[in-house]
Amino acid sequence: LNSQEKIALTGIKPSGKPHIGNYLGMIQPALALADSYRAYYFIADYHALTTYKDRAILQRHIYEVAATWLALGLDPKQVVFFRQSDIPEVFELAWVLACWAPKGLLNRAHAYKAAVQANLESDRELDDGIHAGLYNYPLLMAADILLFGTHVVPVGQDQKQHIEIARDIASAFNHRHGKILSVPEALIGDETNVVPGIDGRKMSKTYQNTIPVFDEPAAIRKQVMRIVTDAKSPREPKDPDRCNVFAIYRHFADQTAVERRLRDYRNGGLAYSDIKQELAQILEDRFAPQRSIYESLLADRTAIDLVLAQGAVQARSLAKPLMAKVRRAIGIDK
Ligand code: TRP
Repeated sequence: LNSQEKIALTGIKPSGKPHIGNYLGMIQPALALADSYRAYYFIADYHALTTYKDRAILQRHIYEVAATWLALGLDPKQVVFFRQSDIPEVFELAWVLACWAPKGLLNRAHAYKAAVQANLESDRELDDGIHAGLYNYPLLMAADILLFGTHVVPVGQDQKQHIEIARDIASAFNHRHGKILSVPEALIGDETNVVPGIDGRKMSKTYQNTIPVFDEPAAIRKQVMRIVTDAKSPREPKDPDRCNVFAIYRHFADQTAVERRLRDYRNGGLAYSDIKQELAQILEDRFAPQRSIYESLLADRTAIDLVLAQGAVQARSLAKPLMAKVRRAIGIDK
């Protein structure tokens, strides 16, 4: 197969406002990948149920994430964009895979282990407060991936183990039944695209150090102005490689501006407040058109519903024949 025929699939957990770290680390690379693969990108809404128990919050997150990807350039003619919950075969396959997955494989999953660890450290029982949804999360994810004959899965480093679990289960199944499931490869994002948050740690919702892509310009500017720097005066030479402002700036400014600013850093003569103002302006200009698309998509959700409904039809046309093969292989069907 050349890559044009290979399938790239990834799941997007609906979890609130995207920030520029998500954009650079995940959204932009996934959209670029769609030029060279058959891309299937879906909203992992049932995975989000492990986290969100409030119906209004889950609904809002689902539409926000759909609007985000569409506004940032996902072209539904190029990418099959759908909701996991629209594909019943996912849940059917998840059960089949459960019967092929050693329980120990799930015991070793990072998220489950971390929850157990937290319990043990607080003198609670091992599985206290842990529901089977969290425990089975990797199984549902394996079903997402294997149902579509996926070749590559673009994900962050934190998802690597999940892909390995899917590979293990697929291999065990194939070993018994012949090559029915394709064994996927993880395509791990380039760490050079990781940007620091405003406090210098990795940009992450958990740290509350993000610059959201679609916030009002004034709110974005406020965040940019708060980016932590050292206390050097404008005159002093500075190290751009150790500056949180520059680490973000270099991804968004054009090449000549980046080179000019690099000289300012090294030779002295750069005020942090200046480059911050410039960065805020660049972000505002860059995302203003997308922000208005984002807002209109959310104001009238029918356009989103239509895209996702069409995506579901396309995705199911791939899923159904594979599920039929699996049913025959295991002896459910004649
Ligand atoms: N677990 C992924 C995350 O938290 C989301 C996800 C669900 C996913 N199903 C997937 C990613 C299938 C890749 C493939 O980001």
